[in-house]
Amino acid sequence: MIPRVSQAKRAAGRRAAEYVIDGMNVGLGTGSTIFYTLERLAERVEKEHLSIRGIPTSEDTERKALDMGIPLTSFAEVDSLDLTIDGADEIDPSFHMIKGGGGALLREKIVAAASQREVIVVDRSKLVDRLGLKFLLPIEIVPFARHNVTRWLEHLEAQPSLRMHAEGETYLTDNGNEILDCAFPGGIADPAELERRLAGIPGIVENGLFVDLCHVLVIGDESGEVEVREKGR
Ligand code: 5RP
Repeated sequence: MIPRVSQAKRAAGRRAAEYVIDGMNVGLGTGSTIFYTLERLAERVEKEHLSIRGIPTSEDTERKALDMGIPLTSFAEVDSLDLTIDGADEIDPSFHMIKGGGGALLREKIVAAASQREVIVVDRSKLVDRLGLKFLLPIEIVPFARHNVTRWLEHLEAQPSLRMHAEGETYLTDNGNEILDCAFPGGIADPAELERRLAGIPGIVENGLFVDLCHVLVIGDESGEVEVREKGR
C-alpha cells in the first residue's frame, strides 16, 4: 500500500504531467514527487505518441527518464524550455520557494530561469506562511570557500551546517560542490533581499531561494484530490 504522503505526491505529480503538450521542450525537476510526473509522462509518450524532449535537473532524474523511455536533450540543442515541472521543499503565499532538499538546486534554477513557465508540484505539507521556519535553506558552495562562506553566512544571521551522507562522508552535488544547509531562526523575512545578498558572496555557486520562478502550483492531498493555484489569480 502506498503511504498517504506518497498518495498526495502521486496525485500532484501525475496531474502536472497534463500541462505538457506535443512538441514541447520540458525541464524535468528532481525528487520523489517528480518521480510520478516522469511516470505519467512516460505513459503519455508511449500511449499518445507525445513527441517531447526533456532536460533533466539531476543525474538521478536523467537515469529515471532514460529508464522510462522519455527522450532527452540538452542546452547544446535548445536555448529555452516551454515548461518545467519541479518539486519544492517549502512554498509561501507569494509563490517564493525553498528548493534543494535533494541537492539539485543549481541545475533546477538554471532550468527554471530558461523556462517560459514553471509548474511546481507539492503535497500540502510544503505550504508555509514564511520560508525557513521548518526547512533549512540549502546553499551550494565551492569546497575551497567553505570556511569563508560560513563566516559570511554567520554575518547574515544564518546557522550553516555542512551536508553529510549518513555514512559520514561529505555530500557532493552532481557538480562536485558542497552544500551548507542554513537555519534562519525566525525564518526568512524577505526572500528576494536575502537572495540578492547571497548572490554577492564569493564561493556561493547558488542558493535554494527561488523567487518569482513559480507560475502554477499543483497541490496534492492524501485523498488523491488536487488543487491548482495560478500566480496572480
Ligand atoms: C531537489 C528539490 C526537490 O524538488 C525538493 O526537495 C522536493 O522533493 P520531494 O518531491 O522529494 O519532496 O528541490 O533539489
